[in-house]
Amino acid sequence: MQILLDIDCLIQALKNRADSTVLNLCRQKRCKGWVASTSIPVILAEAGEQDVQSLLQGLAVLTPTAHDINQALGSEKPFAKDLAARLVEASGLDAVVTLSPENFSELKVDALTPGQLQVKLDAPSEPVQEVRLLDITASYHQIINEVEKEMAETVRSGYFILGPKVSRLEERMADYCQTKYSVGVSSGTDALLIALMALGIGPGDEVITSPYTFFATAGSIVRTGAKPVFADINDITFNIKPEHIERCITSKTKAIIPVHLYGQCADMDPIRQLAEKNGLAVIEDAAQAIGSEYKGKPAGSMGDLGCFSFFPAKNLGGFGDGGLVTTNSKELYEQLKIIRVHGSDPKYYHKVMGGNFRLDALQADVVSAKLNFLEEWTEKRRKNAQTYHQLFKDSAMTPFIQLPPEVFPRHVYNQYVIRAGIRRDELRTFLNEKRIGCEIYYPIPLHLQECFKDLGHKSGDFPESEKAAGETLALPISHEVNRAQQEYVVAMIQQFFLGE
Ligand SMILES: Cc1ncc(COP(=O)(O)O)c(C=O)c1O
Repeated sequence: MQILLDIDCLIQALKNRADSTVLNLCRQKRCKGWVASTSIPVILAEAGEQDVQSLLQGLAVLTPTAHDINQALGSEKPFAKDLAARLVEASGLDAVVTLSPENFSELKVDALTPGQLQVKLDAPSEPVQEVRLLDITASYHQIINEVEKEMAETVRSGYFILGPKVSRLEERMADYCQTKYSVGVSSGTDALLIALMALGIGPGDEVITSPYTFFATAGSIVRTGAKPVFADINDITFNIKPEHIERCITSKTKAIIPVHLYGQCADMDPIRQLAEKNGLAVIEDAAQAIGSEYKGKPAGSMGDLGCFSFFPAKNLGGFGDGGLVTTNSKELYEQLKIIRVHGSDPKYYHKVMGGNFRLDALQADVVSAKLNFLEEWTEKRRKNAQTYHQLFKDSAMTPFIQLPPEVFPRHVYNQYVIRAGIRRDELRTFLNEKRIGCEIYYPIPLHLQECFKDLGHKSGDFPESEKAAGETLALPISHEVNRAQQEYVVAMIQQFFLGE
């Protein structure tokens, strides 16, 4: 539970220190305590700097915007109370803890005394009634201080596009992915497009990829003028099957794009062998797989180029669009940097065709701040996956649904995708009625998309991809999902298959 400590409560805590209920609950990590920065001068007037500094240890500081302050000044309610209520609401905290809850009665926020907070934390938790597939703002409070610090620096510097913040992120990402270089770009889609352009792929070329992926993988190939050639997937991992790739290789083939779908790496050893044998490039579509590994190697480090997305729903998402390309090749790195700025080198001298593929510094700030939490959040996703596995087995659901196995650790579960057979659509409607978010990734495989009809495919061409499109369902797995919510999801799926 996230709580804001009201000024009266802070002053009392200053006096009681060791005996303070609210401080003890925060120290025991039963809740996280926040202090409005505007409260600090008030408590400084009550005690010395050292005392206030030690009081604030273990608490986090929230800074209202000038707009918040103006609104609170213009309100009929007392300034400090109105501001506290605004901060709780805007930052997604759960309550304000105060000695005088009556002062908050007209404000849209839960107000508890320290004693009431203790009672609430000791009480059995309320039954789950809703589980969102993804609640992007739920852990904003965790990153708020880091994000605000990074963004304030950028706003003050005026360096909004590329620049030092993007370079810093690139260094950190190359380090994280264990590659020599990385180049920040405008989206995951643009990461794929610029990777293909850096390899010089264009009209007359063929690129082999999976038909069971997000549209951008094949869409980028077509945008270069090359032809996407589909190879069907493995029925267990949903990733491209190397045996099928081999059959697709022709004299026109220039590259293979394996997609690490849902956060698990494709079987890279045979793919790389095929590429080496036939002189092909490998571009990893790692948009869903930051932090995943294959035989100890990180996603994005195994191909000639690795493409990542910072779309907000990804495990490392920004506050908008963004992406990144990794590589170990100095030559490709230099090409990527030139193509990213309309092919110019130096500025206004255009050697090659490029585009505007630049990453904004503000997006780099958000991604950098979140990168500090990525490992912790990934481990939570992995733990949630294990919990689902166990709960589904214990509830005898495995004859009805197929669970996603971890064939190549480490799977980072951008999605936890079950197969629910022919009743998938019915199950989806049922779960939505029970206020459980779930989604189909993806309902129509790419070879059957209208815009690719010129490729001449028909139903039945890629049976595993078509079967997956008809059977799969993604369940809530993000790091914010807790065990009680997972129990609810499993119980509802059990109710669907077995009845009341
Ligand atoms: C497998 C895959 N490739 C590429 C992309 C494109 O990334 P973006 O949405 O950042 O352009 C996505 C994003 O959803 C994806 O899931």
